[in-house]
Formats: sequence, structure tokens, C-alpha cells
Amino acid sequence: MPNRDLRGRTVVITGGSSGIGRACALEFSAAGCLVVIAGRRPEALEQTLAELEAAGVRCLAVPTDVRCREQVVALRDAALGLTGKLDIWVNNAGYGMVARFEEMHEDDLDAIWQTNVVGSFHGCQAALEPMRRQGGGHIMNVSSLAGRYALPLNAGYAATKHALNALGQSLGAELEGSGIGVTTVMPGLTDTGFFAAMVDKVGPTGTHLVRAMPAGVVARAMVRCARRPRERLVFAPGGAATLVLAEAFPIIFRTIARQYLKVRLSGPKA
Ligand SMILES: NC(=O)c1ccc[n+]([C@@H]2O[C@H](COP(=O)([O-])OP(=O)(O)OC[C@H]3O[C@@H](n4cnc5c(N)ncnc54)[C@H](OP(=O)(O)O)[C@@H]3O)[C@@H](O)[C@H]2O)c1
Repeated sequence: MPNRDLRGRTVVITGGSSGIGRACALEFSAAGCLVVIAGRRPEALEQTLAELEAAGVRCLAVPTDVRCREQVVALRDAALGLTGKLDIWVNNAGYGMVARFEEMHEDDLDAIWQTNVVGSFHGCQAALEPMRRQGGGHIMNVSSLAGRYALPLNAGYAATKHALNALGQSLGAELEGSGIGVTTVMPGLTDTGFFAAMVDKVGPTGTHLVRAMPAGVVARAMVRCARRPRERLVFAPGGAATLVLAEAFPIIFRTIARQYLKVRLSGPKA
């Protein structure tokens, strides 16, 4: 099957003002798409919008809190107002949380659930309406490797990403034959504002177990995936084979988890 031509496609990206979302906005627009970015902070959106406009891209920024269904529907309608169609919807808005299990309050869990899971649920439902009408479209949910493996101190965050994986897998199966594809994107450590924005109840760490990849790496792979859709996009060090190995040999995950815990609890480094 030939690669899909992305020129003139309308793409909505939640959390499009920074990190992976911003990189997606730049890469999808470089591929010829019309990009609509959304996020809560108008000034961050304006900054990304200015960057896109400076590159001569046709784009739109819509202040949106994905936790609010009405705002997500208004975002969808604003995107439809551009060209009357909606081709790709990227549920990327999200944040992280690091906490010892016993110190995690149920309000923390509820809050992260509302953004990472309910926010993406709102996005999927808003996008599906026009995509059903058109008989085609592509939904991309930005999950995480934490959606496969729940590291210690990450129970709340990993639970949301496991839920998002389940949501996407089930929806994808339900949509088979409809012309609408669903992709679950699972980045590993990525160099973004994620760590500054996360709820951190453990305290800062000066080091990570692996080197963070640039957000552009994830974004470029997502553009390739939009051209040639697939169910999952995994960014494990060593590729998808690492996941197969880790599944077959649980000792691999336990060793990584032990190392992570040691590093994470060792405090900031000079
Ligand atoms: N960085 C990593 O290592 C990593 C690894 C795996 C997966 N991920 C996932 O990648 C996605 C993007 O994160 P990132 O790394 O690019 O972090 P980031 O730079 O902090 O970007 C997060 C984006 O989400 C937006 N956002 C947060 N809450 C929102 C809400 N309620 N409504 C609308 N927008 C909201 C933020 O904008 P506002 O604050 O203005 O709303 C921001 O644009 C997340 O889902 C994250 O879980 C990240």
C-alpha cells in the first residue's frame, strides 16, 4: 500500500504548546498538514503558533483544557471550521506523577486520571463524530512505556497510561473496517517540559537511568506512522524486541525497577 499523502490534512494536537506536542506541530506542518494546537496556557500556545506562522504554516491555536468535554468539542469544531474535515487527532496532553504509593492521595490519582485518561477519552469521542461521517481518520494516543511497565514510584501515572493503552486497543478493534485507525504511541524518556511539570512527591533527581531522546524523534516517527498507520509505536531502548524480551524474562524488568528506585531515591546530583 502506498504511503498516505499528508498534504492538506487537518491535524489536531492536544498539548501542542510544548514538548512532544509542539514537535508534532512542527513535523506535521512540515509534512504539509494544517495544524490545530491546544493547551491551557494561552501564552505557551501563542509562542508555538508564532513559530509555526513564521515558517509560513496555516495553523490555529485554541486554548483548551482537555478535562472539559465542552472545550474539547469546541476545539474539534474550530478545527472543522478550517477545512470542514478532520483527518488526524493526537491525544497528547498529559502529565506525570512520582510518589511513594503510601504517600499518594486519592485526589492526586483522580486529578491525573482526569487529564491523562478522561481528557483523551473526550478527544477520541469528539474526533470520532466527523471521522465516522467522513468514513476515515486517524487517532493517535500518546501513552508511554509506563503503559506497559509500571516502575516503582510511578503507580498513579502508569495506571493512567495502562488505561489509555486499553482504551486505544479496544477502540481500535471496535473500529476495524471503518477506515478509522487508532495508534498507541509509547515514548520512553523524552527531553521535554514533562519533568518540570510533573507532580513530584519524592524530590528532584539529577540523573536518569537512560538518556532522554529529543521530542523530534517521537514526532517524526508519528508523522511516518500517519503516512503508514500501525497499531503501536514503541520507543523502548533496543526497540519493540526489548518489550518481547522483558515479557519473556521478568527478571529484566525487576532489575531495571530496582535500579530506577535506587537512582530516584538518591536525591539531586551536583
Ligand atoms: N517526556 C517524557 O519522558 C514522556 C515519556 C513518555 C510519555 N510522555 C507523554 O507525552 C505527552 C506529552 O508530554 P511532554 O513530554 O511533551 O510534556 P510537556 O512538555 O509537559 O507537555 C505537556 C503538554 O500537555 C498540555 N496539558 C497538560 N494538561 C493539560 C490539560 N488539562 N488540557 C490541555 N492540555 C494540557 C501542556 O500544556 P498546558 O500546561 O498549557 O495545558 C503541554 O502542552 C504526555 O501525555 C506524557 O505523558 C512523555
